[in-house]
Amino acid sequence: MFAGLSHAPEDPILGMSTLFASDRDKGKIDLGIGVYKDEDGSAAVLPSVKSAERWLLETQQTKTYLSSAGNSGFTRTIQSLILGGQRMAERSRTIQTPGGSGALRLAADFLRRLRPNARVFLPDPTWANHVPIFSDAGIPVVRFPYYDEERAKIRFDAMMGALREIRRGDLLLLHGCCHNPTGADLDSAQWGAIRDLLARSGATPFIDLAYLGFAEGLEEDAAPVRALAHGLPELLIASSCSKNFGLYRERVGALTIVATNGPDADNTLGHLLCIARSNWSMPPDHGASIVAHILSTKGLDLQWQAELATMRRRVNHMRSTLSDHLTDMGYPRFAFIARQRGMFAMLGFSREQVERLRSESHIHITGSGRFNVAGLTDANVERVAAAIATAF
Ligand code: LMR
Repeated sequence: MFAGLSHAPEDPILGMSTLFASDRDKGKIDLGIGVYKDEDGSAAVLPSVKSAERWLLETQQTKTYLSSAGNSGFTRTIQSLILGGQRMAERSRTIQTPGGSGALRLAADFLRRLRPNARVFLPDPTWANHVPIFSDAGIPVVRFPYYDEERAKIRFDAMMGALREIRRGDLLLLHGCCHNPTGADLDSAQWGAIRDLLARSGATPFIDLAYLGFAEGLEEDAAPVRALAHGLPELLIASSCSKNFGLYRERVGALTIVATNGPDADNTLGHLLCIARSNWSMPPDHGASIVAHILSTKGLDLQWQAELATMRRRVNHMRSTLSDHLTDMGYPRFAFIARQRGMFAMLGFSREQVERLRSESHIHITGSGRFNVAGLTDANVERVAAAIATAF
Protein backbone atom coordinates (compact mmCIF):
# COMPACT_ATOMS: atom_id res chain seq x y z
CA MET A 1 0.00 0.00 0.00
CA PHE A 2 2.57 2.55 1.08
CA ALA A 3 5.86 1.45 -0.44
CA GLY A 4 7.10 2.90 -3.72
CA LEU A 5 4.77 5.89 -3.82
CA SER A 6 5.94 8.89 -5.80
CA HIS A 7 6.93 11.96 -3.75
CA ALA A 8 3.97 14.15 -2.80
CA PRO A 9 4.39 17.73 -4.02
CA GLU A 10 5.05 20.43 -1.41
CA ASP A 11 2.13 22.86 -1.00
CA PRO A 12 3.20 26.20 -2.52
CA ILE A 13 1.93 28.17 0.50
CA LEU A 14 1.94 25.81 3.50
CA GLY A 15 5.31 24.38 2.42
CA MET A 16 6.83 27.80 3.12
CA SER A 17 6.71 27.26 6.88
CA THR A 18 9.20 24.36 6.67
CA LEU A 19 11.61 26.51 4.68
CA PHE A 20 11.17 29.40 7.11
CA ALA A 21 11.75 27.17 10.15
CA SER A 22 14.97 25.84 8.63
CA ASP A 23 16.37 29.36 8.04
CA ARG A 24 18.78 29.93 10.93
CA ASP A 25 19.18 33.69 10.35
CA LYS A 26 18.08 35.79 13.36
CA GLY A 27 16.69 38.57 11.16
CA LYS A 28 14.55 36.32 8.92
CA ILE A 29 11.19 37.74 7.87
CA ASP A 30 8.13 35.63 7.05
CA LEU A 31 6.00 37.17 4.29
CA GLY A 32 4.67 33.81 3.11
CA ILE A 33 1.41 32.41 4.44
CA GLY A 34 -1.50 34.86 4.72
CA VAL A 35 -1.69 35.56 8.43
CA TYR A 36 -2.23 39.03 9.90
CA LYS A 37 0.49 40.19 12.26
CA ASP A 38 0.36 43.29 14.44
CA GLU A 39 3.00 46.03 14.59
CA ASP A 40 5.09 43.79 16.86
CA GLY A 41 5.01 41.02 14.29
CA SER A 42 2.73 38.89 16.45
CA ALA A 43 -0.31 36.93 15.21
CA ALA A 44 -2.08 37.36 18.55
CA VAL A 45 -5.66 36.27 19.31
CA LEU A 46 -8.07 39.23 18.95
CA PRO A 47 -9.29 40.62 22.33
CA SER A 48 -12.93 40.21 21.21
CA VAL A 49 -12.23 36.53 20.48
CA LYS A 50 -10.55 36.07 23.88
CA SER A 51 -13.57 37.59 25.53
CA ALA A 52 -15.96 35.29 23.63
CA GLU A 53 -13.79 32.29 24.52
CA ARG A 54 -14.02 33.16 28.22
CA TRP A 55 -17.79 33.41 27.89
CA LEU A 56 -17.89 30.04 26.13
CA LEU A 57 -15.76 28.36 28.78
CA GLU A 58 -18.00 29.64 31.53
CA THR A 59 -21.40 29.06 29.95
CA GLN A 60 -21.17 26.03 27.67
CA GLN A 61 -23.00 23.12 29.32
CA THR A 62 -22.57 20.37 26.74
CA LYS A 63 -20.40 19.18 23.91
CA THR A 64 -23.09 17.03 22.38
CA TYR A 65 -23.49 16.85 18.60
CA LEU A 66 -25.01 19.68 16.66
CA SER A 67 -25.96 18.88 13.05
CA SER A 68 -24.28 18.76 9.65
CA ALA A 69 -25.47 22.37 9.16
CA GLY A 70 -23.31 23.45 12.10
CA ASN A 71 -24.03 26.14 14.66
CA SER A 72 -27.34 27.83 13.80
CA GLY A 73 -26.39 31.06 15.60
CA PHE A 74 -23.28 31.20 13.45
CA THR A 75 -24.99 30.48 10.12
CA ARG A 76 -27.70 33.08 10.85
CA THR A 77 -25.32 35.86 11.87
CA ILE A 78 -22.74 35.21 9.18
CA GLN A 79 -25.40 35.14 6.47
CA SER A 80 -26.72 38.45 7.67
CA LEU A 81 -23.20 39.94 7.86
CA ILE A 82 -22.60 38.97 4.22
CA LEU A 83 -26.00 39.61 2.66
CA GLY A 84 -27.14 42.46 4.89
CA GLY A 85 -29.89 41.83 7.45
CA GLN A 86 -32.91 39.74 6.63
CA ARG A 87 -33.56 41.05 3.12
CA MET A 88 -32.31 37.94 1.32
CA ALA A 89 -33.25 35.42 4.04
CA GLU A 90 -36.24 33.99 2.14
CA ARG A 91 -34.09 32.60 -0.69
CA SER A 92 -30.70 32.15 1.05
CA ARG A 93 -29.39 29.23 3.10
CA THR A 94 -26.05 28.87 4.89
CA ILE A 95 -24.21 25.76 5.98
CA GLN A 96 -21.19 25.93 8.27
CA THR A 97 -18.03 24.37 6.84
CA PRO A 98 -14.49 23.63 8.04
CA GLY A 99 -13.01 26.92 6.83
CA GLY A 100 -13.52 28.62 3.49
CA SER A 101 -11.70 25.66 1.88
CA GLY A 102 -14.43 23.35 3.18
CA ALA A 103 -17.05 25.61 1.58
CA LEU A 104 -15.25 25.52 -1.76
CA ARG A 105 -14.89 21.74 -1.61
CA LEU A 106 -18.52 21.29 -0.60
CA ALA A 107 -19.64 23.31 -3.62
CA ALA A 108 -17.28 21.32 -5.88
CA ASP A 109 -18.68 18.00 -4.58
CA PHE A 110 -22.20 19.33 -5.05
CA LEU A 111 -21.42 20.05 -8.71
CA ARG A 112 -19.90 16.65 -9.29
CA ARG A 113 -22.86 14.88 -7.73
CA LEU A 114 -25.74 16.98 -9.05
CA ARG A 115 -24.46 19.01 -12.00
CA PRO A 116 -21.90 16.70 -13.64
CA ASN A 117 -21.60 18.82 -16.81
CA ALA A 118 -20.60 21.97 -14.93
CA ARG A 119 -17.22 23.61 -15.37
CA VAL A 120 -15.65 26.15 -13.05
CA PHE A 121 -14.00 29.26 -14.45
CA LEU A 122 -11.08 30.42 -12.30
CA PRO A 123 -9.07 33.64 -12.59
CA ASP A 124 -5.43 33.42 -13.60
CA PRO A 125 -3.79 33.92 -11.18
CA THR A 126 -5.88 32.78 -8.25
CA TRP A 127 -5.38 31.33 -4.75
CA ALA A 128 -3.05 28.34 -5.12
CA ASN A 129 -5.57 25.92 -3.59
CA HIS A 130 -8.47 26.75 -5.93
CA VAL A 131 -7.34 24.53 -8.79
CA PRO A 132 -6.61 21.44 -6.61
CA ILE A 133 -9.92 21.78 -4.76
CA PHE A 134 -11.99 21.73 -7.93
CA SER A 135 -9.88 19.34 -9.98
CA ASP A 136 -9.56 16.81 -7.14
CA ALA A 137 -13.36 16.87 -6.97
CA GLY A 138 -13.44 16.04 -10.69
CA ILE A 139 -14.70 19.42 -11.91
CA PRO A 140 -13.22 20.64 -15.21
CA VAL A 141 -11.34 23.90 -14.58
CA VAL A 142 -11.22 26.67 -17.20
CA ARG A 143 -8.81 29.55 -16.57
CA PHE A 144 -9.45 33.12 -17.68
CA PRO A 145 -6.91 35.97 -17.69
CA TYR A 146 -7.22 38.28 -14.68
CA TYR A 147 -4.04 40.18 -13.99
CA ASP A 148 -1.18 41.69 -15.95
CA GLU A 149 1.86 41.47 -13.69
CA GLU A 150 3.98 43.68 -15.92
CA ARG A 151 1.48 46.56 -15.80
CA ALA A 152 0.13 45.65 -12.34
CA LYS A 153 -3.49 45.91 -13.44
CA ILE A 154 -6.53 43.77 -14.12
CA ARG A 155 -6.80 42.47 -17.70
CA PHE A 156 -10.46 43.28 -17.82
CA ASP A 157 -10.96 43.23 -21.60
CA ALA A 158 -9.13 39.92 -21.96
CA MET A 159 -11.12 38.55 -19.05
CA MET A 160 -14.47 39.54 -20.54
CA GLY A 161 -13.36 38.15 -23.92
CA ALA A 162 -12.52 34.77 -22.38
CA LEU A 163 -15.78 34.72 -20.42
CA ARG A 164 -17.79 34.84 -23.65
CA GLU A 165 -17.32 31.08 -23.54
CA ILE A 166 -19.11 30.60 -20.23
CA ARG A 167 -22.56 28.99 -20.39
CA ARG A 168 -25.57 28.13 -18.27
CA GLY A 169 -24.63 25.55 -15.65
CA ASP A 170 -21.03 26.76 -15.31
CA LEU A 171 -19.66 28.52 -12.22
CA LEU A 172 -17.67 31.73 -12.39
CA LEU A 173 -15.45 32.03 -9.34
CA LEU A 174 -14.49 35.56 -8.35
CA HIS A 175 -12.77 36.92 -5.25
CA GLY A 176 -15.21 39.17 -3.37
CA CYS A 177 -12.42 41.55 -2.29
CA CYS A 178 -8.67 41.55 -1.61
CA HIS A 179 -7.89 39.27 -4.53
CA ASN A 180 -5.42 36.58 -3.49
CA PRO A 181 -2.61 36.72 -4.72
CA THR A 182 -2.68 40.09 -6.51
CA GLY A 183 -4.57 42.54 -4.26
CA ALA A 184 -6.21 43.89 -7.45
CA ASP A 185 -9.99 44.13 -7.11
CA LEU A 186 -12.71 44.78 -9.68
CA ASP A 187 -14.30 48.24 -9.51
CA SER A 188 -18.05 48.73 -9.35
CA ALA A 189 -18.41 49.29 -13.12
CA GLN A 190 -16.54 46.04 -13.75
CA TRP A 191 -18.73 44.17 -11.26
CA GLY A 192 -21.74 45.59 -13.12
CA ALA A 193 -20.41 44.34 -16.47
CA ILE A 194 -19.88 40.89 -14.95
CA ARG A 195 -23.39 40.85 -13.56
CA ASP A 196 -24.73 41.63 -17.07
CA LEU A 197 -22.58 38.90 -18.59
CA LEU A 198 -23.85 36.38 -16.05
CA ALA A 199 -27.45 37.46 -16.64
CA ARG A 200 -26.96 36.93 -20.40
CA SER A 201 -25.13 33.63 -20.18
CA GLY A 202 -27.09 32.06 -17.33
CA ALA A 203 -23.84 31.02 -15.60
CA THR A 204 -23.72 31.17 -11.79
CA PRO A 205 -21.33 33.34 -9.78
CA PHE A 206 -19.38 31.79 -6.93
CA ILE A 207 -17.79 34.41 -4.69
CA ASP A 208 -14.83 33.50 -2.53
CA LEU A 209 -15.13 35.93 0.36
CA ALA A 210 -12.11 35.14 2.52
CA TYR A 211 -11.20 38.75 3.39
CA LEU A 212 -14.50 40.49 4.19
CA GLY A 213 -13.64 43.74 5.99
CA PHE A 214 -9.99 43.86 4.97
CA ALA A 215 -10.39 46.09 1.89
CA GLU A 216 -12.53 49.13 2.78
CA GLY A 217 -14.99 48.00 5.45
CA LEU A 218 -17.65 45.37 6.11
CA GLU A 219 -20.42 47.13 4.19
CA GLU A 220 -18.24 48.30 1.31
CA ASP A 221 -16.61 44.90 0.83
CA ALA A 222 -19.96 43.10 0.90
CA ALA A 223 -21.53 45.49 -1.65
CA PRO A 224 -20.54 43.58 -4.85
CA VAL A 225 -21.83 40.29 -3.42
CA ARG A 226 -25.10 41.87 -2.35
CA ALA A 227 -25.55 43.45 -5.78
CA LEU A 228 -25.12 40.03 -7.41
CA ALA A 229 -27.55 38.47 -4.93
CA HIS A 230 -30.18 41.09 -5.79
CA GLY A 231 -29.54 41.19 -9.52
CA LEU A 232 -29.22 37.50 -10.37
CA PRO A 233 -31.36 34.44 -9.69
CA GLU A 234 -28.62 32.32 -8.13
CA LEU A 235 -25.32 32.75 -6.31
CA LEU A 236 -22.87 30.84 -4.12
CA ILE A 237 -20.59 32.39 -1.51
CA ALA A 238 -17.69 30.69 0.28
CA SER A 239 -16.80 32.73 3.35
CA SER A 240 -14.12 32.38 5.97
CA CYS A 241 -13.52 33.78 9.46
CA SER A 242 -9.82 32.91 9.36
CA LYS A 243 -8.63 36.43 8.63
CA ASN A 244 -11.33 38.83 9.81
CA PHE A 245 -11.71 37.07 13.19
CA GLY A 246 -8.13 35.71 13.23
CA LEU A 247 -9.55 32.21 13.78
CA TYR A 248 -7.25 30.47 11.29
CA ARG A 249 -6.73 27.12 13.03
CA GLU A 250 -10.30 26.88 14.30
CA ARG A 251 -11.53 26.34 10.71
CA VAL A 252 -14.60 28.56 10.67
CA GLY A 253 -16.24 28.96 7.28
CA ALA A 254 -19.58 28.83 5.54
CA LEU A 255 -21.18 28.10 2.21
CA THR A 256 -24.12 30.37 1.48
CA ILE A 257 -26.40 29.79 -1.48
CA VAL A 258 -28.95 32.20 -2.88
CA ALA A 259 -31.61 30.44 -4.95
CA THR A 260 -34.52 31.71 -7.03
CA ASN A 261 -37.00 30.91 -4.27
CA GLY A 262 -37.28 29.39 -0.80
CA PRO A 263 -38.19 25.81 -1.85
CA ASP A 264 -35.19 25.63 -4.23
CA ALA A 265 -32.96 26.99 -1.47
CA ASP A 266 -34.25 24.36 1.00
CA ASN A 267 -33.81 21.53 -1.46
CA THR A 268 -30.26 22.63 -2.32
CA LEU A 269 -29.41 22.88 1.37
CA GLY A 270 -30.72 19.32 1.80
CA HIS A 271 -28.22 18.06 -0.79
CA LEU A 272 -25.39 20.06 0.76
CA LEU A 273 -26.17 18.49 4.15
CA CYS A 274 -25.94 14.98 2.64
CA ILE A 275 -22.56 15.80 1.08
CA ALA A 276 -21.25 17.37 4.28
CA ARG A 277 -22.36 14.29 6.24
CA SER A 278 -20.34 11.97 4.02
CA ASN A 279 -17.29 14.26 4.07
CA TRP A 280 -16.84 15.55 7.63
CA SER A 281 -20.20 14.78 9.20
CA MET A 282 -20.21 18.01 11.23
CA PRO A 283 -18.00 21.08 11.25
CA PRO A 284 -15.99 21.98 14.39
CA ASP A 285 -17.99 24.21 16.74
CA HIS A 286 -15.55 26.14 18.92
CA GLY A 287 -14.71 28.94 16.45
CA ALA A 288 -18.27 29.15 15.14
CA SER A 289 -19.61 29.62 18.69
CA ILE A 290 -17.14 32.45 19.19
CA VAL A 291 -18.20 34.21 15.99
CA ALA A 292 -21.90 33.73 16.77
CA HIS A 293 -21.40 35.19 20.25
CA ILE A 294 -19.44 38.19 18.98
CA LEU A 295 -21.88 38.99 16.20
CA SER A 296 -24.93 38.70 18.43
CA THR A 297 -23.61 40.52 21.50
CA LYS A 298 -24.08 44.29 21.54
CA GLY A 299 -20.82 45.97 22.34
CA LEU A 300 -18.68 42.94 21.57
CA ASP A 301 -19.66 43.21 17.89
CA LEU A 302 -18.52 46.85 17.88
CA GLN A 303 -15.29 45.91 19.62
CA TRP A 304 -14.59 43.29 16.92
CA GLN A 305 -15.40 45.81 14.16
CA ALA A 306 -12.89 48.23 15.69
CA GLU A 307 -10.26 45.48 15.86
CA LEU A 308 -10.93 44.63 12.23
CA ALA A 309 -10.59 48.31 11.28
CA THR A 310 -7.23 48.42 13.08
CA MET A 311 -6.01 45.42 11.07
CA ARG A 312 -7.24 46.96 7.81
CA ARG A 313 -5.63 50.33 8.55
CA ARG A 314 -2.33 48.73 9.49
CA VAL A 315 -2.21 46.70 6.26
CA ASN A 316 -2.94 49.83 4.23
CA HIS A 317 -0.30 51.76 6.17
CA MET A 318 2.30 49.06 5.40
CA ARG A 319 1.28 49.11 1.74
CA SER A 320 1.95 52.84 1.42
CA THR A 321 5.09 52.76 3.57
CA LEU A 322 6.68 50.02 1.45
CA SER A 323 5.67 51.76 -1.76
CA ASP A 324 7.11 55.09 -0.49
CA HIS A 325 10.42 53.49 0.49
CA LEU A 326 10.72 51.81 -2.91
CA THR A 327 9.86 55.05 -4.72
CA ASP A 328 12.50 56.91 -2.66
CA MET A 329 15.01 54.20 -3.61
CA GLY A 330 14.30 54.84 -7.30
CA TYR A 331 11.65 52.16 -7.90
CA PRO A 332 8.34 54.00 -8.52
CA ARG A 333 7.18 50.96 -10.50
CA PHE A 334 6.13 49.42 -7.14
CA ALA A 335 3.69 52.29 -6.43
CA PHE A 336 0.84 49.90 -7.30
CA ILE A 337 1.33 48.22 -3.90
CA ALA A 338 -0.21 51.29 -2.25
CA ARG A 339 -3.21 51.24 -4.58
CA GLN A 340 -4.15 47.59 -4.06
CA ARG A 341 -6.01 46.02 -1.16
CA GLY A 342 -5.85 43.22 1.35
CA MET A 343 -3.01 41.08 2.54
CA PHE A 344 -1.24 40.27 -0.70
CA ALA A 345 0.68 41.83 -3.56
CA MET A 346 2.77 40.37 -6.36
CA LEU A 347 6.29 41.66 -6.89
CA GLY A 348 6.42 40.34 -10.44
CA PHE A 349 9.55 38.40 -9.45
CA SER A 350 10.89 35.28 -11.14
CA ARG A 351 11.66 32.15 -9.06
CA GLU A 352 15.34 33.19 -9.13
CA GLN A 353 14.55 36.63 -7.70
CA VAL A 354 12.37 35.05 -5.00
CA GLU A 355 15.25 32.71 -4.19
CA ARG A 356 17.68 35.66 -3.99
CA LEU A 357 15.37 37.40 -1.50
CA ARG A 358 15.41 34.27 0.62
CA SER A 359 19.06 33.28 0.40
CA GLU A 360 20.62 36.77 0.53
CA SER A 361 18.14 38.72 2.67
CA HIS A 362 16.28 35.96 4.56
CA ILE A 363 12.95 37.33 3.40
CA HIS A 364 10.52 34.52 2.67
CA ILE A 365 7.76 35.04 0.08
CA THR A 366 5.93 32.43 -2.02
CA GLY A 367 7.56 31.12 -5.20
CA SER A 368 5.01 32.98 -7.33
CA GLY A 369 6.36 36.34 -6.09
CA ARG A 370 3.38 36.92 -3.77
CA PHE A 371 4.16 38.47 -0.42
CA ASN A 372 2.06 39.02 2.70
CA VAL A 373 1.85 42.76 3.33
CA ALA A 374 0.47 42.02 6.82
CA GLY A 375 3.86 40.54 7.77
CA LEU A 376 5.54 43.95 7.33
CA THR A 377 6.12 46.19 10.34
CA ASP A 378 7.52 49.70 10.77
CA ALA A 379 10.65 47.98 12.09
CA ASN A 380 11.26 45.71 9.08
CA VAL A 381 9.75 47.53 6.12
CA GLU A 382 12.83 49.52 5.14
CA ARG A 383 14.98 46.40 5.13
CA VAL A 384 12.38 44.62 3.00
CA ALA A 385 12.28 47.55 0.55
CA ALA A 386 16.07 47.53 0.25
CA ALA A 387 16.11 43.77 -0.33
CA ILE A 388 13.42 44.04 -3.01
CA ALA A 389 15.41 46.78 -4.72
CA THR A 390 18.55 44.61 -4.61
CA ALA A 391 16.82 41.51 -5.95
CA PHE A 392 14.97 43.44 -8.68
C1 LMR B 1 -2.92 32.08 2.01
O1 LMR B 1 -3.31 32.26 0.86
O2 LMR B 1 -1.75 32.24 2.38
C2 LMR B 1 -3.90 31.68 3.08
O3 LMR B 1 -5.18 31.68 2.54
C3 LMR B 1 -3.56 30.41 3.74
C4 LMR B 1 -3.77 29.19 2.89
O4 LMR B 1 -4.44 28.28 3.35
O5 LMR B 1 -3.27 29.12 1.76
